[in-house]
Amino acid sequence: MTDTPIIETTDLKKIYPMGQHKIMALDGVSLAFSRAEFAGLVGPSGSGKTTLLNIIGSLDAPTEGSAVVMGKGIESLSHKEAALLRNRHIGFIFQTFNLLPVYSVYENVEFALLLLGDTAAERRRKVMAALEWVHLADRARSRPAQLSGGQSQRVAIARAVVKQPDIILADEPTANLDAENSHNILQTMERLNRELGTTFIFATHDGKVIRYLRRKITLVDGRVASDERLDGGGGAGARGTGERP
Ligand SMILES: Nc1ncnc2c1ncn2[C@@H]1O[C@H](COP(=O)(O)OP(=O)(O)OP(=O)(O)O)[C@@H](O)[C@H]1O
Ligand SMILES: [Mg+2]
Repeated sequence: MTDTPIIETTDLKKIYPMGQHKIMALDGVSLAFSRAEFAGLVGPSGSGKTTLLNIIGSLDAPTEGSAVVMGKGIESLSHKEAALLRNRHIGFIFQTFNLLPVYSVYENVEFALLLLGDTAAERRRKVMAALEWVHLADRARSRPAQLSGGQSQRVAIARAVVKQPDIILADEPTANLDAENSHNILQTMERLNRELGTTFIFATHDGKVIRYLRRKITLVDGRVASDERLDGGGGAGARGTGERP
């Protein structure tokens, strides 16, 4: 634990040209996240949640402002350095799952590990553990097309957690899950957060997710409208975290 934020954005702007007009997807977002936060971005559709996650994850560049992630200014990273940061340190759960259709469930999850230098046996142990977390070990040989939406979402979650990254960016991770699966997934994520100190940032509309958050940031029209501390714990009570940005 240090006082240095693991993620810090300063006056971040993302402007999309639209004919004569400009869309201000982000309009001056300054936020700091400490290590091991369990935070969520909420706000209406189009308020900039996905845009902000993509910039933090160095998948997209800001038009103005800066984002520092694990000590690195993402605007100044080369493609290779950005890929290294993502491969080693960041797990994404996308709003659309981005599974590779020609590969099996097992291979989709294993993919996240291929560049990290594990042996085949280590990869197998990690992939099966991640599939067990999401209750899909018995579907390891299925292809994405043979899965339901909720099962696909759980594979995407396994792929994000399998490498035990420092940061998990989760865009509507429960959008396709029933209440029981949502609850299970959130408890797994909380455990990773507690045991490994993984920093979670969600983008979500889902009240089931919001109940687990310890920090809720509301975006409206690309700006931070509020930033609140919550009890977290899925409604089961508070747990002190000590962190403050
Ligand atoms: N590639 C793009 N080109 C033009 N406009 C875009 C692009 N990507 C996003 N936008 C616009 O930027 C704004 C913010 O979009 P964003 O996807 O970040 O919203 P969101 O808060 O994630 O919404 P939702 O809850 O629907 O997922 C929207 O007005 C959107 O139309
Ligand atoms: Mg979105």
